[in-house]
Amino acid sequence: MQESSESDTVAYTVEDGIAWVKYNRPEKRNAQSPKLNRRMREVIDALEFRDDVGVLVLTGEGDAFCAGMDLKEYFRETEAQGLVGTRRAQRDAYGWWERLRWYQKPTIAMVNGWCFGGAYGPLFSCDLAFAADEAQFGLSEINWGILPGGGAAKVAAELLPFRKAMYHAMMGENVDGRTAAEWGLVNESHPLAMLKDRVTEVAKVLLGKNPVALKATKDAVRRVREMTYDNAMDYLIRAQEAANFFDNQGRKEGIRQFIDEKSYKPGLGAYDKDRAGSTTSQS
Ligand code: ACO
Repeated sequence: MQESSESDTVAYTVEDGIAWVKYNRPEKRNAQSPKLNRRMREVIDALEFRDDVGVLVLTGEGDAFCAGMDLKEYFRETEAQGLVGTRRAQRDAYGWWERLRWYQKPTIAMVNGWCFGGAYGPLFSCDLAFAADEAQFGLSEINWGILPGGGAAKVAAELLPFRKAMYHAMMGENVDGRTAAEWGLVNESHPLAMLKDRVTEVAKVLLGKNPVALKATKDAVRRVREMTYDNAMDYLIRAQEAANFFDNQGRKEGIRQFIDEKSYKPGLGAYDKDRAGSTTSQS
């Protein structure tokens, strides 16, 4: 089969506020090659601040989400170039995973099929993750003789209880989407035929929330994991005050629509953010 050009390694569309970004090397089970990693960085950068993008979904073309790093192009061919080749390839991969971890918009991994090793980095980078029941998750590194690098051991330790993380990393056995959901690797698992509908439903809910508050919230949940309680308390005060700099009307409008207008209940859903700023704040 013809080797795909760098720009073809990632495909995307934007529909109704949702950017659907696809690994697009189905013939190689969407393995992450240096070309794909460079292209993915360009694509997510280009989408990040577009006004017509409110949520980004990462998924895979064909029957794989992503079969991890490309063993030929990412490992063998870059190692042949010496240290510079290895480090450059690592930077290209880890760079876009980091960008995604702190992305401006909410992100969802839609795991449609195979998900191995190096795919755990982007899986964790996404704020939410939904899998097909049919998907297969594996830390297969041990099966070909390396440790789960590229953050994968950290992802397992972050998301799984200790014994499960150890078993998953040491045994090289796969789990399906349902088990991945039970373990906490993903939020939910659904039959593949229903996966996109469920992800669309979740994305639409996110599109209805205050975007400044969403960015502050997702960063806060990631940051506080590594803080003491007191540091987290302090960080959260500063983070909210910083968010107010970008949107000081939204929360006031949220209070107004509940307390004065009685048009919604925050315990049951979001305020109408499209009316923020259209009225004088009462608080
Ligand atoms: N690196 C390089 N090439 C790959 C990779 C990969 N990670 N995964 C699949 N391919 C290639 C195959 O070599 C094959 O290429 P070819 O058509 O030129 O022979 C093509 O993709 C199709 O792969 P098959 O193995 O034929 O597909 P199948 O559907 O039978 O199996 C499976 C899918 C189970 C995903 C299998 O391809 C596989 O085990 N891939 C490797 C998964 C893995 O362990 N990844 C590394 C994780 S560790 C890390 O990322 C650091």
